[in-house]
Amino acid sequence: MNNFIKKTLDFSKDLKDLIDKLEAEQTLSKEEWMTLIQHRSAESDAYLAERARAVQQKHYGNQIYVRGLIEFTNYCKNDCYYCGIRRSNSHAQRYRLTPEQILDCCHQGYKLGFRTFVLQGGEDGFYTDAILVDLISRIRQEFPNCAITLSIGERSKESYQAFYDAGANRYLLRHETYNQTHYSHLHPATLTAQNRQRCLWDLKEVGYQVGTGIMVGSPGQTSEHLAEDLLFMKKLNPQMIGIGPFIPHHDTPFANQESGTMELTLFLLSAIRLMIPKVLLPATTALGTIAPDGRERGILAGANVIMPNLSPTNVREKYLLYDNKLHTGDESAQAVLHLQKSMKNIGYQIVVDRGDSKNKKNL
Ligand code: 5AD
Repeated sequence: MNNFIKKTLDFSKDLKDLIDKLEAEQTLSKEEWMTLIQHRSAESDAYLAERARAVQQKHYGNQIYVRGLIEFTNYCKNDCYYCGIRRSNSHAQRYRLTPEQILDCCHQGYKLGFRTFVLQGGEDGFYTDAILVDLISRIRQEFPNCAITLSIGERSKESYQAFYDAGANRYLLRHETYNQTHYSHLHPATLTAQNRQRCLWDLKEVGYQVGTGIMVGSPGQTSEHLAEDLLFMKKLNPQMIGIGPFIPHHDTPFANQESGTMELTLFLLSAIRLMIPKVLLPATTALGTIAPDGRERGILAGANVIMPNLSPTNVREKYLLYDNKLHTGDESAQAVLHLQKSMKNIGYQIVVDRGDSKNKKNL
């Protein structure tokens, strides 16, 4: 009997049954989710990860997708209690990339093989709809075969429509937490769970491929909240789900709160892989920040996307959402080489997917 089978026999049959049910039916009730979350153990986590990897391999083989992240502004009008670039943080050194700098990042990324650019920023009033429409149109024109992903927060449905019409295809907006009370524990009263969710449904209606997600172990988060988050994700059925541990930032009201754990994050990655088998699931920077091998462990728990930073190196340390954010200081090219190696070490391969299998090439 090999080690793994021995281990799986140790944990209660009920948990194994729940995991098998999740894999078979791709859903659980709120009570079942809470049971699984509250009673999970090293053994059940190992079994869950094993099943998640089987599903990941079935749909994606050993292929890992990359998306180039361009953090183009750290100005933000919001004051989220957890975030290092919140408006009230007067210690943050603010920066904005110009459209030319952003296009330059895309060009460099393209040369490295990236075919998806993620434009992420704080909610910065400088970037009006008109400026963004112009920028998106230019990227669309110069990179007709690339996906343009936006991650710029809450806007009106009309704005989302205008960006879509200009050529954006995807939008990332974490719901952060589904539960209204918990949402208001993490955000000032100007922001509501309801409006955040409204944005996500609007984005879907406009036609975007949508990404949502949460911080794992955020202050005040309970297993009931997590169960509600999982049910919301199931209902929204997004193309991507980004989750990473909460990590305190020293200049925020949550400076002294505990980080989320690696174990719970890996558990959730595996659970999400079984719940929405084909979802794109990044092993996030936050996961790579709480442990040096965090992203590799994320892949081994069922994740299949990595989002390397394409921002100019001199601004990277300014986009500090949380303390000690992983940044190697490497130029993008160097970082990609490192990533290729570390993925190869765990049996995976970074690919560029241009949409048809003939043009799929190794990066
Ligand atoms: N720790 C971990 N993740 C954070 N984010 C913001 N602040 C933190 C933090 N302190 C996440 C939020 C946001 C995404 C861009 O970064 O979930 O949606």
